[in-house]
Amino acid sequence: MGVYVAYGLIVLHAAFGLLQTETHPFYAIMIGGCFALVAGLHLAAGRREARADHAVGPTVTEAGKAWVEVARVCDIALNRAKIAQLGGGERVAVFRYEDKLSAISNVCAHQNGPLGEGRVIDGCITCPWHGYQYRMADGRSPPPFTEKVSNYRLRLRGDMILLDPDGLPPGTPVDPVIIPPEILPEGKGARHDQT
Ligand code: FES
Repeated sequence: MGVYVAYGLIVLHAAFGLLQTETHPFYAIMIGGCFALVAGLHLAAGRREARADHAVGPTVTEAGKAWVEVARVCDIALNRAKIAQLGGGERVAVFRYEDKLSAISNVCAHQNGPLGEGRVIDGCITCPWHGYQYRMADGRSPPPFTEKVSNYRLRLRGDMILLDPDGLPPGTPVDPVIIPPEILPEGKGARHDQT
C-alpha cells in the first residue's frame, strides 16, 4: 500500500512545481479535484475489498476435515480462475485449464497483483499486472526466475470444487485434479488449451 502514498507524493511534488508559475485558481482547483477523485476511488475500492476479505465460502466436511466450496466446474471459464475467500484477507485462485484444476495463492510474489484475475498462458498462470508467471504444478516461476507462491489441495464432489484452506509451503508440488469427461463444460473432446 505504501507505493500509493509514494505515487501521491510524486504527483503532489509535480503539481506544486506547476503552481509556482500558474497562479490562476483554476489550476489549484483542478489539481485538488483530481487528487480527491483518485484518492476517493481508491478508498472506496479498499473498503469494498476489506468487506470481502472477511467473507468465507460455505464449508463441507470431507475425509475428516473442513473444505471450502469454491464453485461448480462449469462456473470457471477455460484458462481462467475463480477467487475463493478464506477469511482473514486470504484469497486463493482456482484455475481451470485443459481438463484440470489447480489452486494457488491469489497474491503475486512481485507486487501482490491479483493472480486470479490473470489467465493461463503457455501453461503458466500469468499475473495481469506485470506478467510474472507461475507453474501450475508447484507455484514456482519457470527458470531462470525464482519467485514462488503457496498452492492448495483441491478435490471434486460431483461437479463442486472443494478447496483445502490449509495452504502448502510456497513451491510445494501438488497434483492437479483431473476433471471427469462427463462434467467438462466443453464436452468430452475438449481436453486441450483452446486459446
Ligand atoms: S504484481 Fe504480479 S507481475 Fe507485478
